[in-house]
Amino acid sequence: MSTVLVTGANRGIGLEFVRQYAADGARVLACARVPGEAKDLVALAAKSEGRITVHPLEMTSTASVAHLTQELDGTPIDILINNAGVYGGDHQTLRDLDFEAWSRTLAVNTIGPLRLLTALLPNLQKGKEKKAIAITSGMGSTARHDGSALIYRSAKAALNNAMRGAALALGPDGIIVVLLHPGWVKTDMGGRDASLFPDVSVAAQRKLIAALSVTDSGRYLAFDGQEIPW
Ligand SMILES: NC(=O)c1ccc[n+]([C@@H]2O[C@H](COP(=O)([O-])OP(=O)(O)OC[C@H]3O[C@@H](n4cnc5c(N)ncnc54)[C@H](OP(=O)(O)O)[C@@H]3O)[C@@H](O)[C@H]2O)c1
Repeated sequence: MSTVLVTGANRGIGLEFVRQYAADGARVLACARVPGEAKDLVALAAKSEGRITVHPLEMTSTASVAHLTQELDGTPIDILINNAGVYGGDHQTLRDLDFEAWSRTLAVNTIGPLRLLTALLPNLQKGKEKKAIAITSGMGSTARHDGSALIYRSAKAALNNAMRGAALALGPDGIIVVLLHPGWVKTDMGGRDASLFPDVSVAAQRKLIAALSVTDSGRYLAFDGQEIPW
C-alpha cells in the first residue's frame, strides 16, 4: 500500500487526488490549512476506514511544517503532491501590480513547496516510490508568456526553476522530482469555463505519476504527458 501526502487537500484538485488515491487503497495524508473548515475532506476521511487522515498545514509557516513533520513521526511517504496554490489576485498587469500580493503568492506557490519538500526528505527517503510532484501551471512557462498574470506566472516559473534544481540535487538519492500542469480545471481557481473536470485531470495525472522513473526527474509535463517548454 502506497502512502501519499497531498497539500491543499480540502477542495479542488487536491481533494480529488485524495478521493482517487484513497479509492485505490492508498493511505492518504491529507493536509489542509484549516481542517475544522474542510467539511468535504473530513466527510471523505470519515468514510475511508482510516485510509485518509487529515493534518493541518499552512504552506507559508515554518512552524506549521515542523508540526506536520513531528506529527508524521518518520512515516515513510511514497508520493508527495505539493498541490496547494493561489492565483495572486486581480492586480497582475505591469502597470497595476499588487506587490504585497506578489510576495504572498511567492510564499505559497514557490517557497512553501520547497520548504515542505526539504522537511519531508527523510520521509521520502524511506518511501518505496520516492516521488515528489509539484503541481505547477502551463502559465509558469517563460517561453509561452503572453504578458498577462505577472504574479502567478512568475511564482510558478520560480517553482519550476527551484524544483528543477531539487531534481538535480536529489538525483543521487533516487528521489524523482517532477512538475505537473493539471490542465485548465473546473475549480475555484480555474473557474466554471475551464475545459476539464477535476476527476479527469487527476486520473490522467495519477497515471503519469505511476509511470514515472528516475529518468523522468526534472521534467515539466502537462497532465496528458506533453512536455512543456521552460
Ligand atoms: N484549476 C486550474 O485550472 C489550474 C491550472 C493550472 C494549475 N493549477 C494549480 O493546481 C493547484 C490546485 O489548484 P485548484 O484549482 O485546486 O485551486 P483551488 O480550488 O483554489 O484550491 C487551492 C488549494 O490550495 C490551498 N491553499 C492556498 N493557500 C494555502 C496556504 N497558504 N497554505 C495551505 N494551503 C493553501 C487552499 O486551501 P484553502 O481552502 O484553505 O484556501 C486550497 O485547498 C494549484 O497549485 C494551482 O496553481 C490549477
